Amino acid sequence: AMIDKGNHRHFMQKEIYEQPVVVAQTLKAYLQRMDDRVSLPIPDFDLSAIRRVTIVACGTSYYAGMVAKYWFEQFARVPVDIDVASEFRYRAPVMEDGGLMIVISQSGETADTLAALRHAREEGQKIAAVVNVPTSTMAREADLLLPTNAGPEIGVASTKAFTCQLAVLAAFAANLARAKGRLDAKAEKELVRHLAEAPAAINGALAYDEAIEAMAHHIVPARDVLYLGRGTDYPLALEGALKLKEISYIHAEGYAAGEMKHGPIALIDELVPVIVIAPSGPLFEKTVSNMQEVQARGGKVVLISDYDGVQAAGEGCLATITMPKVHPLIAPMVYAVPVQLLAYHVAVLKGTDVDQPRNLAKSVTVE
Ligand code: AGP
Repeated sequence: AMIDKGNHRHFMQKEIYEQPVVVAQTLKAYLQRMDDRVSLPIPDFDLSAIRRVTIVACGTSYYAGMVAKYWFEQFARVPVDIDVASEFRYRAPVMEDGGLMIVISQSGETADTLAALRHAREEGQKIAAVVNVPTSTMAREADLLLPTNAGPEIGVASTKAFTCQLAVLAAFAANLARAKGRLDAKAEKELVRHLAEAPAAINGALAYDEAIEAMAHHIVPARDVLYLGRGTDYPLALEGALKLKEISYIHAEGYAAGEMKHGPIALIDELVPVIVIAPSGPLFEKTVSNMQEVQARGGKVVLISDYDGVQAAGEGCLATITMPKVHPLIAPMVYAVPVQLLAYHVAVLKGTDVDQPRNLAKSVTVE
């Protein structure tokens, strides 16, 4: 069928808005709501024998992998190694028996990721592929195919594929944890219930679109923008910076909040907006103190948090964006929305070609 933009101005906007529906669709395939279990395709290898996971991907898919590393380690207690595909093959990675490689790719055709997959297969690794195009080369070559069900993604900036990748990876981490005897029925039930809340929470995040658009005006004149986050919000900071760079052509960096004081804080002045991604929770205080170090040096902060977080630390910020209060497991899916929308609105205000940014291709088939 012909894919059109419906009543949206760009494919990217349409795809951002599709997220509650496509994430629900993805979760439906991976969760058994009737008995609150995760249900994944059964691989033809023994999951309980997996002793090590290696995640390889590029760009936004790589950032989904960075988030997933926290989950695999936390739930399944399996060591996880992660690398960008273009580096992985050139560093003599150690791949022992019992190793699982997870490739993550919207297109399933990215040349670097495919080359990493093939290299790992030769080294005896089992291969799981989290891909959005079920007919793609990676889908065909994997031992275990985990489709993301996001539907065709047309905008060069990846949005809905990312949140669906996160949904699949969370379910997969839970599945591996269960296979390894690290997730009892009660914990699994809780996890499934939190995951099932994601679509509504993403919808709640979309409700702040206008506030984010208003805020985008402050970012348009900037030459550089910093994004900060801790824990699973660190990859989101990287993702926010990538989105802004690729469609608005504003230079941006994502940093682990605690790493600021080791160098990048020297960049801070009143001309560099700093976007802080910090849901309330165990890491909040630490991130806020990093944020205050920025403010003390004249930095203009935009705080993205929930109601409690904004109440506690919003004073003195250039702007705040209030997200729904959610469980930490689904926070990366929810906080993806404001970073996507911010990049989108800045790009629209700058008049760039949002769906087809310069120098970029949707699928990168050269190494
Ligand atoms: C993200 O917005 C990108 N345009 C890009 O980084 C992309 O995520 C990367 O090229 C990987 O593509 P893939 O998921 O199809 O492998």
